Amino acid sequence: MMEVAAVLKAELNAEFLATVAEKSDGAALRGDYAHADEQYVVQQDWAAYTEAEHELWRKLYQRQAALLPGRACDEFIEALHQMDAADGIPEFTHTSGELFKATGWTIVAVPGLIPELAFFNHLANRRFPVTVWLRTPAEFDYIVEPDVFHDFFGHVPLLFNPVFADYMQRYGQGGLKAMQLGGLDNLARLYWYTVEFGLINTPQGLRIYGAGILSSGGEVEYCLKPGTGSRHIHLNIERCLRTLYKIDSYQETYFAIDSYQELFDGTAPDFTPLYEKLKDLEVLPANTLLSGEVELLA
Ligand code: PHE
Ligand code: CO
Repeated sequence: MMEVAAVLKAELNAEFLATVAEKSDGAALRGDYAHADEQYVVQQDWAAYTEAEHELWRKLYQRQAALLPGRACDEFIEALHQMDAADGIPEFTHTSGELFKATGWTIVAVPGLIPELAFFNHLANRRFPVTVWLRTPAEFDYIVEPDVFHDFFGHVPLLFNPVFADYMQRYGQGGLKAMQLGGLDNLARLYWYTVEFGLINTPQGLRIYGAGILSSGGEVEYCLKPGTGSRHIHLNIERCLRTLYKIDSYQETYFAIDSYQELFDGTAPDFTPLYEKLKDLEVLPANTLLSGEVELLA
């Protein structure tokens, strides 16, 4: 039994590594996958982080935290402060316990990017995978693969919000379903434009809830600046599912929601007919503005 599982995992892993290597120009994945279990879960080994890594974390944290007021949504800022993660790379088990009390989610440690099936399976079971390794000082401003700073600082705070937490679980369930229906490219765009790069309308103006923005030194300021040429439009799910995205530059389109409930309700319907319909529609370039779409940032 064990052997079969190990072989299966090795095959999955080889396929996965090949996919990622292709995506990132032949560069190998950084994490240590040798000790991961079938769900790609590892131990965090918190004691192994060096003082230099904790210091780099503190610098990253301070730079980002200073940029948040007036830009990040209140839910993010409040949860971040309660997480008590300013003094060094946090112990996942500590935050995970708090998170479980708040919304029933837990944090699991992973070596880095993991295959889609394992990723969706974690989300569908209210487990958020967080990468264990931290970027190098040379990557202070920009990193290609998600590291512990992006995953933890960027993603975990919003999981304390009950409605957003439910949306994330539903997304995982939707991902498993999309894999069967050939809808993964479409659904991945929704994750990108909401969970990673989403904005939310508030009485005070547009605010950020997307983790990709909130963990980025430059994009936090860029995404809310008028006159950059990037678009800020209200989220339309079908439109979003057709929209290509850039992985190596600031976004050319940001989609804004009015509430997390809007996300949750908008993703309740069966997407099967939507995936079918989208197979006959053209994809839209990242900088598209369709007629009737309103720029939200005056
Ligand atoms: N409700 C969608 C379906 O039936 C799945 C989904 C969930 C999509 C959450 C996006 C976000 O396929
Ligand atoms: Co992310």
